[in-house]
Amino acid sequence: MNPNSKRLGGSIYLINISVHKDYQRQGIASAMMTNIINYYKTTMPEKQLSLNVEKSNTKAFNLYKKFGFSVIESDDEDYLMAHPALDNENDKK
Ligand SMILES: CC(C)(COP(=O)(O)OP(=O)(O)OC[C@H]1O[C@@H](n2cnc3c(N)ncnc32)[C@H](O)[C@@H]1OP(=O)(O)O)[C@@H](O)C(=O)NCCC(=O)NCCS
Repeated sequence: MNPNSKRLGGSIYLINISVHKDYQRQGIASAMMTNIINYYKTTMPEKQLSLNVEKSNTKAFNLYKKFGFSVIESDDEDYLMAHPALDNENDKK
């Protein structure tokens, strides 16, 4: 996680979220995403989270959509996805 990324004017950029294939589909990535979002909600609530995912990577794309990320740009191979600024998310509650 890079909290000093230049993407989107200064987002927290996530790279290489991975779970060993023998342990996939057991909620481990979901637990990681919950912890990441809660950590940054507390420490840097004004920031967006962002990441790149290959268009062909359905597992990862579904994971990120489930946790509130949406596509904001794409090229031939990748999506750039962003999670709303965490303080804006709090405003909606
Ligand atoms: C993507 C990855 C991290 C998911 O890890 P995981 O621990 O298996 O994920 P979880 O069990 O927490 O599942 C969370 C969600 O991910 C999605 N997902 C996970 N496995 C999936 C599959 N085989 N098919 C479709 N969606 C899937 C689903 O939305 C799932 O939610 P659901 O169970 O309610 O349907 C894992 O598949 C992985 O390590 N893949 C290889 C590395 C990689 O591509 N990382 C992403 C780089 S951008």
